[in-house]
Amino acid sequence: MKFPERVFSGMQPTGSLHLGNYLGAMVQWIEMQKTHECIYCVVDLHAITVWQDPAELSDAIRRVTAAYIAAGLDPKRSILFNQSQVSAHAELAWIFNCVARLGWLNRMTQFKEKAGKDRENASVGLYAYPNLMAADILAYRGTHVPVGEDQKQHLELARDIAQKFNNDFRKEIVAAGHDDGIFFPQPEPIIEGPAARIMSLRDGTRKMSKSDPSDLSRINLSDDADAIAKKVQKAKTDPEPLPSEEAGLEPRPEADNLVGIYAALAGNTKAQVLCEYGGQQFSTFKKALAELAVTRLAPIGAEIDRLMADPATIDAILADGSARARAIAEPVMREVKEIVGFIHS
Ligand code: AMP
Ligand code: TRP
Repeated sequence: MKFPERVFSGMQPTGSLHLGNYLGAMVQWIEMQKTHECIYCVVDLHAITVWQDPAELSDAIRRVTAAYIAAGLDPKRSILFNQSQVSAHAELAWIFNCVARLGWLNRMTQFKEKAGKDRENASVGLYAYPNLMAADILAYRGTHVPVGEDQKQHLELARDIAQKFNNDFRKEIVAAGHDDGIFFPQPEPIIEGPAARIMSLRDGTRKMSKSDPSDLSRINLSDDADAIAKKVQKAKTDPEPLPSEEAGLEPRPEADNLVGIYAALAGNTKAQVLCEYGGQQFSTFKKALAELAVTRLAPIGAEIDRLMADPATIDAILADGSARARAIAEPVMREVKEIVGFIHS
């Protein structure tokens, strides 16, 4: 195999982490560390593409780090670090700014959503965000990228950038000793399970998001048992009992979402959940869901608080992870500079 399998993923240190982040990304990240070499990054450079209060940013970085450790990520086995400590990300992103085409970025739906109507006033960083994301992965020649469904388009762009770099510099790549002319792998998105897209508890057609103004729309990892139970009770539903077949969920986005959340928390499929709860009223199902959510999430919230009480230990974990990340990225960057034609020492 030309490229050893290497997992890379990242999460922004903004807002509070919620059930969508946990089930859509964290659970997969943690699972993959059993079988793969994994690099997990707190993407602080991405965070500042929209304004972040400097007084709050460092704690937000620590909190995401703590959340991962609390959820089961092992910082000895996997590499856990924050992006800005490894300069390869910004360096490679610049080179990719010169590889990617304006036309490619113009198609990115997340930019359109995040920039909103006032596009003229969005930061240049927000526009170039996907190039930095490609650099994150490819600085390590990452091959597998576990993410939620919303990141699919960005991953496609990362593949296009890898391909164009390989094509543009083919001669130099071969001269550098890569006989097949391939320097970067095509990173593969890993988007799986009933939780790839968790929806808002208030509107089953919109994704659960940090930026939703309604706190009732999401379950935060920092919510206590009462808050979790209350949000599940208040979750929007329809008057029908649960269907007994998965096909019955299709026209019912809110029911589909709650069944998907239950399945993901319990580690089964939607079909298995319907086997147990099909034909029952939401009042019964919501009680079970609230209980399950509290059992799974409340200990994580408590562990985050415990870890946050000792910021020096978190900073030491990030420093150690950054050093290990640098050791992988630096030789890659040396070759990239050689290939592009820069003089380096
Ligand atoms: P973000 O909160 O945008 O930094 O996303 C961090 C990770 O969580 C990414 O892999 C997202 O795809 C994932 N994610 C965010 N929101 C959801 C959601 N509602 N459902 C599933 N995955 C999500
Ligand atoms: N854009 C991703 C998100 O908002 C975060 C991210 C940044 C990422 N760099 C990455 C995810 C590299 C996977 C790989 O969720």
